[in-house]
Amino acid sequence: MKYNVEIMITKEEIENRVHQLAKLLEKDFAGKEPVFIGLLKGSVLFMSDLVKQIDLPLTIDFLKVSSYHGGTESTGVVQILQDVSYDLSGKDVIIVEDIIDTGLTLKYVKQFLQSKAINSLHVCTLLDKPSRRKVDIKGDYVGFEIPDEFVIGYGLDYAEKHRNLPYIGKVVFNDEV
Ligand code: IMP
Ligand code: MG
Repeated sequence: MKYNVEIMITKEEIENRVHQLAKLLEKDFAGKEPVFIGLLKGSVLFMSDLVKQIDLPLTIDFLKVSSYHGGTESTGVVQILQDVSYDLSGKDVIIVEDIIDTGLTLKYVKQFLQSKAINSLHVCTLLDKPSRRKVDIKGDYVGFEIPDEFVIGYGLDYAEKHRNLPYIGKVVFNDEV
């Protein structure tokens, strides 16, 4: 399907907000050694910009989950494709996500991580589409609330493309224009 991309959140707006979130996390987790767990692949750009600006003895890890099959709608079927690589028991864990849409992915991932006897669990998401929620779940640290649009860039893909864009763009399908 043919589509155009319109900029929704600029590179500068992302940089400013990521800096704010980093400083907030630095303050809230002062004295701790939090583990930041990025959900692959969408969180990679956000994760790397975020942790560079947090002055704490943190560690990072990744969890690969899949709930999409190339389209723009969540199927709700979440699979763990790659687990974290070390023992999380007793750890203060922060899930780093690109976007909360229906919330189905995050609900599953939270339950999965809670089963690992961690000390605390928080969610830091770059984007949030609250109007699309199907389950009651919230981000503790949210970069931007956005309307119900399909977005790409800064880690987010459409059929695996556009993750490398430095801004967040809205996908406008040609039958809409
Ligand atoms: P949820 O389970 O519906 O909350 O979906 C969460 C996942 O769907 C995110 O981690 C993204 O990978 C993907 N997703 C949801 N909305 C968008 C979007 O607008 N653009 C790209 N990916 C999205
Ligand atoms: Mg994702």
